[in-house]
Amino acid sequence: MKKNILTGIRPTGKLHLGHYFGAVENWVKLQSEYNTFVEIADVQALTDNFNEPTKVRNNVKELTLGLLSAGIDPEKTTIFIQSMIPEIAELTVFYGNLVTMSRLYRNPTVKTEIAQKKALFGNEGQSVTYGFVGYPISQAADITIFEGQCVPVGEDQLPLIEQAREIVRKFNTIYGPTLIEPEPLLSEHKRIKGLDGNEKMGKSLGNTINLDDTKEEISAKIMNAITDPDKIRKDDPANPHVCMVYYYHKLVNKDNLETVCSECTKGERGCVSCKKELIEKMNEFLEPMRERRQYYEQHPEIVDQILSEGTKCARERAKSTMKRIKESMKINYNN
Ligand code: TRP
Ligand code: SF4
Repeated sequence: MKKNILTGIRPTGKLHLGHYFGAVENWVKLQSEYNTFVEIADVQALTDNFNEPTKVRNNVKELTLGLLSAGIDPEKTTIFIQSMIPEIAELTVFYGNLVTMSRLYRNPTVKTEIAQKKALFGNEGQSVTYGFVGYPISQAADITIFEGQCVPVGEDQLPLIEQAREIVRKFNTIYGPTLIEPEPLLSEHKRIKGLDGNEKMGKSLGNTINLDDTKEEISAKIMNAITDPDKIRKDDPANPHVCMVYYYHKLVNKDNLETVCSECTKGERGCVSCKKELIEKMNEFLEPMRERRQYYEQHPEIVDQILSEGTKCARERAKSTMKRIKESMKINYNN
């Protein structure tokens, strides 16, 4: 029997290289070996975008299209919409009794995110909602309702998986063995730097290479990328390790990496031609995604069908786990 994988992604914007190398690439690889569920986490996206419902709504389809273009195969992976599975919300309420407030505030992911909000909004009391602080509980419900044995995530999500494991242990201790304790599966790449050299690639930072960027956009972005600032002339020796162009060569031009590195170090490579080579490799890397995107864009009804069938299948699974959960909790009045 194949093991279950459950993972999720918030529909808040277009997929970029950070999503791909930090998570989606791994899902694409794993989908053949595992029974894979990918959740479009619209309810979770609303925890910090509750005042922007249109943004979340518009990105559900966009993200589905993005995932299919990136290589998520609907024959192997169940893609579904979180809000269409009411059992997740129900289970979130039950789990709410098993987690203390102080444990939530101690969750490193939540802590970091609260600090970021404070920096943005100043008054913590006004900006941190109950729903936001509690989102690890909802994420534990996501994972466990689908009996996710493995959760492929980036490093930033590890504290959330740990919290889910604690909830499962507590549940099973109190109500009897019912739930599966999930294991994290870390991606090979943890975090992808932005075009500007920032540690994180992110839409709000304006430093992304999107998976659906056109050839023109790719050229413009790479031509403007930060190189070694000490390299002035074409034949100056430089340090590729401080250069963003080299950084992306490492992702999409693995075969020629040694040459790029040694030529740069010896001053045998100009930045313009180095960038042109990267543009070519980046386009080669993105081309199959562009082709798949074009296909799905021309057949929006197929995307709708993938989402509705995936959601239906996910719902069946959630219902059957919920039945067992209610039996264990002695709230199974109808059966
Ligand atoms: N919190 C995850 C993120 O921001 C998205 C997510 C939602 C998720 N539900 C999940 C990840 C369940 C793993 C498992 O990227
Ligand atoms: Fe960067 Fe290439 Fe220029 Fe070296 S030659 S600094 S790797 S762009």
